[in-house]
Amino acid sequence: MSPLHVTRTLPEDATEAALRADVRRGLTDEPKWLPPKWFYDARGSELFDRITELPEYYPTRAEREILAARSGEIAAASRARTLVELGSGSSEKTRHLLDALTSLIAYVPVDVSESALTRAGQALIAERPDLEVHALIADFTAPLVLPATPGPRLLAFLGGTIGNLLPAERAAFLASVRALLDPGDGLLLGTDLVKDERVLVRAYDDAAGVTAAFDKNVLNVVNRELGADFDPDAFEHVALWDARHEWIEMRLRARTAQTVKVPALDLAVEFAAGEELRTEVSAKFRKDGVGRELAAAELELTHWWTDAQDRFALSLSVAR
Ligand SMILES: C[S@@+](CC[C@H](N)C(=O)[O-])C[C@H]1O[C@@H](n2cnc3c(N)ncnc32)[C@H](O)[C@@H]1O
Repeated sequence: MSPLHVTRTLPEDATEAALRADVRRGLTDEPKWLPPKWFYDARGSELFDRITELPEYYPTRAEREILAARSGEIAAASRARTLVELGSGSSEKTRHLLDALTSLIAYVPVDVSESALTRAGQALIAERPDLEVHALIADFTAPLVLPATPGPRLLAFLGGTIGNLLPAERAAFLASVRALLDPGDGLLLGTDLVKDERVLVRAYDDAAGVTAAFDKNVLNVVNRELGADFDPDAFEHVALWDARHEWIEMRLRARTAQTVKVPALDLAVEFAAGEELRTEVSAKFRKDGVGRELAAAELELTHWWTDAQDRFALSLSVAR
């Protein structure tokens, strides 16, 4: 069995420095916000895995359906020898691709969640002793240095995670993805599609309250890492559809007026009763828009697959 190679692209304290900078910016802004990448400590990654099994959360099942049906076509079109996956999490759906890519030599999962990455990586090297697994603990919104593995490369970004980036961030992200690819390399992108508002809102506000616990987990992370005194029970989870931007927003609404102290930043943050803190945007897409955004990054859309109910799309584009 080949060993699991784990690389941290940033020094240990860079994560804390980034968290401090984000929390200071987000909690002193008007309206307040925090970036979604801070949900994913070990508990947050576990909660996300539970979300993917909820009856209301269709994106994982829909994307898995597409991967199960289309991985052979994806393999034939890409002939990849290296599969890079950004925000790989549990790498669970990726199994379909790994099985279909018969020329594959290396798999490079990239995630901020060290716990999710090492758990998935250990399971994979046991299942697939023939594969080199290079796990990269990194922030995919920062410049990435990939290990020297053979091309052609297929870069996968699944789960609709691209929707967590705001439009300007998406453009910068796609340009940086394109810079990682050689001409002929592919990008496999999962995008959740615009649909009935009730279906969308339910997917982000489930009856069992798992998404609410996931949303509040960012407060636990700020408490633990920066010594803050957020009371997660003093906030209510809110999911709403923004029809103008065609995105879902997750927010935490203060139940009462309160002051939260963040000693590591020497900060006292005032919340009015009912004030909302934005924790995530999840953009929903249409085919034309995805094609345009890819084209702006010099990626040509060659394949577009959806699930039987047209809820989710997987697209393959080629670097020109
Ligand atoms: C919505 S989950 C999707 C997980 C998996 N790809 C799936 O489809 O089920 C987002 C994943 O991206 C990771 N993530 C979020 N922001 C990130 C960032 N800025 N850099 C690297 N990984 C990130 C999270 O830890 C999590 O595993």
